[in-house]
Amino acid sequence: MKFYIATDHAGVNIKPSIIKLLENMGNEVVDLGPNNNNRVDYPDFAHKLCLKVLADEGSQGILICGTGIGMSLSANKHKGIRAALCHDAYTAIMARAHNDANVLCFGERVVGLGVAESILEGWCKTNFEGGRHAQRVEKIEL
Ligand code: RB5
Repeated sequence: MKFYIATDHAGVNIKPSIIKLLENMGNEVVDLGPNNNNRVDYPDFAHKLCLKVLADEGSQGILICGTGIGMSLSANKHKGIRAALCHDAYTAIMARAHNDANVLCFGERVVGLGVAESILEGWCKTNFEGGRHAQRVEKIEL
């Protein structure tokens, strides 16, 4: 899988470890920044990432801020983006299986690396089930 990843200043510390985890799982990762701890606005990075995911069919996104909330709120403004805020593996698995989520959001201030790893594993190993879930996903868009 090809992933784009972006954070704000409150998600930048965990990012290198997340990239490594994703690559060790066999994924390609494109880092959209930021690359330092300067304060930035999470919507700028959420929107940048969503435009990349939408333009690159089959790719997915990872957005990390302090809580993951601002990132998920911003990302879900984009038609075609289904961003899921997941702080445990079960939610990440269900976000893929039932919601066909294409952007994973979480908070660096909420989860440690161990939990983040289980979230990523759950996300990466799970495909959308389709079937009855497909018509529900279609109804999400207004
Ligand atoms: C930044 O302090 C923080 O508000 C941001 O990272 C995020 O948690 C917002 O939802």
